Amino acid sequence: MRTALAESGALGATVRQIARRLGAAVASVDSDLRGLASRGEVVRMGRGLWVLQDFDRLELREDFTEPAVYAERFALEDGIPLGTYRGPITFRSNEGLPFHRWWPYVQGYSAEFVSNLLRSEGLRRGSTVLDPFAGSGTSLIEAQRIGARAIGYELMAPAALAARVKTDIDLAPGDLERAAAVLLRTAQHAPMAALPFLRETRRQFSPEALAQLRRIRSVLPAADARGVTDALRLAFAATLVPVSRLRRSPCLGYDPVDRERPLPFVQYAGVIRTMVEDLRARARSSESWGPPAEVRSGDSRSIDLPAQSVDLAITSPPYVNGLDYVMNYKLDLAWLGYVNSYSELSALRIAELACDNLPRTATRDYLGTNRTPDPWLEEILPRIRENVARKGTYRRNDMHGVVHRYFRDLADVLRGVYRALRPGGRFVLVVGDSLLAGTYVPGDLLTARIGRSLGFRIESVDVARARHSGQRRQFLLRESIVTLTRPNGREPQGKRRWKQTLR
Ligand SMILES: C[S@@+](CC[C@H](N)C(=O)[O-])C[C@H]1O[C@@H](n2cnc3c(N)ncnc32)[C@H](O)[C@@H]1O
Repeated sequence: MRTALAESGALGATVRQIARRLGAAVASVDSDLRGLASRGEVVRMGRGLWVLQDFDRLELREDFTEPAVYAERFALEDGIPLGTYRGPITFRSNEGLPFHRWWPYVQGYSAEFVSNLLRSEGLRRGSTVLDPFAGSGTSLIEAQRIGARAIGYELMAPAALAARVKTDIDLAPGDLERAAAVLLRTAQHAPMAALPFLRETRRQFSPEALAQLRRIRSVLPAADARGVTDALRLAFAATLVPVSRLRRSPCLGYDPVDRERPLPFVQYAGVIRTMVEDLRARARSSESWGPPAEVRSGDSRSIDLPAQSVDLAITSPPYVNGLDYVMNYKLDLAWLGYVNSYSELSALRIAELACDNLPRTATRDYLGTNRTPDPWLEEILPRIRENVARKGTYRRNDMHGVVHRYFRDLADVLRGVYRALRPGGRFVLVVGDSLLAGTYVPGDLLTARIGRSLGFRIESVDVARARHSGQRRQFLLRESIVTLTRPNGREPQGKRRWKQTLR
């Protein structure tokens, strides 16, 4: 039993895997493991994975480099000690805010964080702000609110749609109200549209919810980038998850609680009411909003903006193996007709910043562990590879290739932003670190270092909050704000102080 568990190392093994390896009955392995657990010799992690106690306390192992060691190395090699940011950072605080609340999106950062930053950077009417991973538009809305020109790149069409509609300054509340009323009236007697291609559709919704969604879908206008049309489509996207048996937490999955759900006609009408309310309030407000955001539904690994045209870039990229956005937004992608087959979903995944659902063919060129974007990766990638190999059966044996590719993808984005920024302009990223296959990956520090290798000056890395690792709840990860500057040769030296600039 011990040998079988030691082979699985930090990744652990399920009762079935151990039983198979030992040629023993599952029930007897299960009871032996519980016996060992009661003596504290083995530990059960997350979703039923057992590890030897030795692999549970990763920090005590010689083959594990812990976060504090990287922080020390960063201070020594890069001259920047980790700082602290105190202020709201997660999207949760946006859920009740006008415009931000129009689409249930949980992966963003807080609007307050963005508006504080815009203020402290002295941005004003006529400035240009870029968000290369615009999501549902948090940065773009806040930039537009101060009259700036807001530009975003976003790969997921439903998120790009949300960002576009939220910043559509010409969208008239009365027009939207009337068009939605007609749509809902027509939908009551409309034929049922075909189901989207997703195999699980019938499981995801009650029969009644499904029937109503299909009726709305049959009268929903096709995408044509006109204000009201897009707003009607966004309201449909915002209806999907609340009426389904799913939830985003943050990954899309079945809700373990069988709660009562609103039906689509009612939910859709509610979403429209919220939108109309926010539009009316904006029309009454004295703020002078900037032009509609320019949202490019595309891949930010190839930013094609004019050189030195951007005053500030601000973003939160996907974290190293954090989340598969394609999977998370597949309902919206499918029901709105942006994606019509599993092969189209796969194609989108190849353009996404690498995550562990990436098709295997897409890591083929990244299996080497040298010529990486940062020397630290030359230590980290082989460890991931060894840990996966030790386990024998793991979801994928090219995990180190996924991580390698992630940082190459990120380097492409950093390069594009560098070119687009004016000298002296800043690129502020909210980034997390990760624990992958029993290996710690300091995503925030690596982002800063790769930025420096491309010409940026690292100003600061400030920890904004702690997060629990999905692999091991007790292992604390963090979310940091990385501030990079495109030098203009005139910067004052020294660390940037959030507390002075943002409080
Ligand atoms: C953390 S979210 C950004 C959230 C955003 N800051 C907000 O508050 O709404 C990261 C986003 O990057 C997008 N993304 C992933 N790969 C991309 C790529 N290659 N080009 C553009 N966007 C991409 C994802 O679809 C996701 O919406």
